[in-house]
Amino acid sequence: MPTPSTRPTRKAVIPVAGMGTRFLPATKAVPKELLPVVDRPALQYIVEEAARAGLGEVLMVTGRNKAAIEDFFDRQPEIEAALEKKGDAARLAAVHASTEVAQVHFVRQGEARGLGHAVLQAAAFVGDEPFAVLLGDDIIDARDHLLEQMLQVQAEHGGSVVALLDVGRENIDKYGAVAVEPAGGPSDDGAVVAVTGLVEKPPVDEAPSSLAIIGRYVLAPEVFDVLRETAPGRGGEIQLTDALATLVERGEPVHGVVFSGRRYDTGDRLDYLKAVVQLASEREDLGPGFRTWLAEFVADLPAAGASEA
Ligand code: UTP
Repeated sequence: MPTPSTRPTRKAVIPVAGMGTRFLPATKAVPKELLPVVDRPALQYIVEEAARAGLGEVLMVTGRNKAAIEDFFDRQPEIEAALEKKGDAARLAAVHASTEVAQVHFVRQGEARGLGHAVLQAAAFVGDEPFAVLLGDDIIDARDHLLEQMLQVQAEHGGSVVALLDVGRENIDKYGAVAVEPAGGPSDDGAVVAVTGLVEKPPVDEAPSSLAIIGRYVLAPEVFDVLRETAPGRGGEIQLTDALATLVERGEPVHGVVFSGRRYDTGDRLDYLKAVVQLASEREDLGPGFRTWLAEFVADLPAAGASEA
């Protein structure tokens, strides 16, 4: 029987069944994961990230009102034929790239009963090997290799790995929070920590630290058995954080990688706007024109204090 750390991680699970209430009314008809960040859905950035990390088998956990996600990752012969007829090779390549980036599978959650419940729907697809979870609205900049580092930590230490971000104590009540201690180990550059406790959205004065769990996980398959027994927690939802807390209590290794790069929660309106502006300004095709306009626009803005809502 191989030890957990000798089983390579090959599969990614992307939960996209949430209701997206922070982005209503747009999300009445458009899943938040398909909102365009420049010219491609947030979700495409995330599938591309999984593929770059070597995870070419992707399962999306979808729900009602999310059929457009399946359409997006399907071939579109009519559009392709029209582009071919026009000889528009660049756009044709972009359309192909969106479907060919990974082998994408789908399963339905049925009812949005929480992230833990969404992940549990992946049990049959994953089987008995470690797997990654990438939240469908959380973009990590392509120049930051967070997922690759997490996969390396999992291969070294076994067990499960979470991505952590210092959000400041005043914001921690919106996140899963962790208690940590130094981890040690060959890939430990100070960013790798051992997780000793987890709690979902704690009151600020009860939070174990200002380190929040963000939307990347590499999980041991043992998490499925724990999720089956995890009762609804915070907000009446089955929380992945609670299942990870149980794994820690049972002595299973859970590590954290403290991230210091660029991350956008595109399910949050302000972060979504920041993602569009930053990624557009860095694009080779749109960036030069957009930056010129942006600089003029910013120069004309009223002083910061006066412009804040
Ligand atoms: P969020 O908490 O950001 O999603 O979950 P939400 O509930 O849609 O957001 P708001 O607060 O109502 O705006 C993080 C990820 O987990 C998925 C979401 O689709 C998102 O990608 N999720 C959440 C599920 O797949 N199922 C659930 O039951 C809950």
